[in-house]
Amino acid sequence: MAIALRRRSLIRIALFLGVIAIIRLFIGSSSSSASVTSLYGYDPQQIQKQGVLDLVTRGEKLLDARKHKFLQVRMGRDERPDLFSDTINDGILDYWERFQKPFITGRDTSYMDAQSVLTAIEELLALNGWVASKCATLTRPFGQNKDDDAYDDLANQGHLYYIGMVIHSADHFLTDQLAVIVQLARRLGTSNLFVSMLDYDSSDSTETLTDLCEAVLILLGVPYRIRRVPGMTEDPAAAYYPLEEAHTRNFALEPLHELWEKRKIRFNRVIWLKGFTCPNDILETIKISMVNDAAMVCGMDWAEHNGFFIFSDRWRTRDINGDQFRQSKSSSLSSSSLNTVPPRDAVGAQRYAKHLPFQAFCCESGTHVIDPAQSYYAGISYRAGTNYHNATLPNDPPARRPDDECLDSTQAYFCRDLWVWRAKEGMKDVDDIDVSEPPRKEKRSLQDLAARDPQNKDPDANVGSDYDASDLPTSDPPPPTSEQRLTAPNSVFLPARIMVNPRCVTTYAGVSHTRLALDLFGPPDREDRDDEQREEDILRDWEGAPDTFVCQEQQTTGGRRAAKNQRRLGFSIHKELEASLGQS
Ligand SMILES: *[C@@H]1O[C@H](CO)[C@@H](O)[C@H](O)[C@H]1NC(C)=O
Repeated sequence: MAIALRRRSLIRIALFLGVIAIIRLFIGSSSSSASVTSLYGYDPQQIQKQGVLDLVTRGEKLLDARKHKFLQVRMGRDERPDLFSDTINDGILDYWERFQKPFITGRDTSYMDAQSVLTAIEELLALNGWVASKCATLTRPFGQNKDDDAYDDLANQGHLYYIGMVIHSADHFLTDQLAVIVQLARRLGTSNLFVSMLDYDSSDSTETLTDLCEAVLILLGVPYRIRRVPGMTEDPAAAYYPLEEAHTRNFALEPLHELWEKRKIRFNRVIWLKGFTCPNDILETIKISMVNDAAMVCGMDWAEHNGFFIFSDRWRTRDINGDQFRQSKSSSLSSSSLNTVPPRDAVGAQRYAKHLPFQAFCCESGTHVIDPAQSYYAGISYRAGTNYHNATLPNDPPARRPDDECLDSTQAYFCRDLWVWRAKEGMKDVDDIDVSEPPRKEKRSLQDLAARDPQNKDPDANVGSDYDASDLPTSDPPPPTSEQRLTAPNSVFLPARIMVNPRCVTTYAGVSHTRLALDLFGPPDREDRDDEQREEDILRDWEGAPDTFVCQEQQTTGGRRAAKNQRRLGFSIHKELEASLGQS
């Protein structure tokens, strides 16, 4: 498998080397910052504060990469020579000497150079990738794939979008992800995007492929920062995965904050690209995010497992009752029972069955869309628990109590932070929250309890092979106990808007996209949606946070595959608010 991937990667590299060579000749490879500082009079890698001139030229594009050099920056390029360095350099030089240099000696031929750049841009905008080229042929409910102008209204709003990617030795996705970015740029406008790629200590051909990404983005005039950073810990046994997740994501968000602080540029949505997702599905998710004013909308990711596709990101996903999603097969809908679909809560299951977005306590599932105004711009960043046990040290693990903080993924922390922030926002409008008031609405507890009953345990609860979802504990967590009842129920607070869009499919290697699409959405592409159906995309009834949730945590170091523990834990927004007020 690894060898096959490596070989495929090599072929891809070979294909693109020629392209890179040409592009590099036009652009000139970006040199290291120190030597250029003197040339520009400032460090061109730093985003520049808005100057008087910028204010005068107001009304122009904010993210004009051709005008502002600092909008296209490469940091930490791996300059170490490798096996192919000499061959590549010889090839570039040869191409230059024989095919380029002789033709660009005079002014009279310069139009040809401009023409080749224009042609290259046109060809690049049609770049479809290997998997991405199939997207238009895949079955989707509501006919998303039928109309090429379906997302024009998004483009016409002129919003800015920030694409975040953390790449850790995942070169087999990268060319397709680049194709997706190019397609998004084509639809939304090349200077309405900013692409932040973080290469986290990759050891495969990611480096070469990020060269390719860089070349393509330069030619298209898409602003970007491509950055390579070393791993946090050299010894995998000494690494704490949730901490690494937080570290890398915050790195990838740095330009977002810089652009706001230095140039008052605000992005409308942040798109985290993980795995592979079709461009239309991402546009659809952005739309869902907008009409619901949602803080976060996630896709659903599906992994291949013994000839089936199963819902895979169960580590980070919780339904609105705090329960873990089922590891359902992609074909589970055809069984006509709502007890087999991924979300366990009744409303979520019903909406899933109609391919409608539904509310969740937490999600990630590969590609997801975030409203930075309800998160990053409000001061929320990624974090992880710090009370883990470093197994490489001789000391004993700390004693743990049943109600200790949950040491789960950085995304789970992020979700809880979204809930608490939103509750705090809601309190600004109300003078005082009366905590003795009964909850606004009774929770959907009946189905819920049935699902927790060991007799009704899902047979599929613990099969699967997804990287993050595997090694989950085998037993179901205990039901909530009376001690976990809260002083102020979470339902009195303004709810965070976190949703899952089942129409947005994220996949990994080894998935037949055509099969998966048929499984999920059936053979006939439905009629174009009428306005009534669009109405259903808007969730009217938002639930409060669950009072308990399934905590799946990594208590010790050991990298991504460290064992996970499971318990059911109380979540009290009231308590969290008290704690945060006490701190400030
Ligand atoms: C665990 O301890 C080792 C040795 O002191 C250290 O290098 C490593 O960074 C620690 N890991 C974490 C996640 O703190």
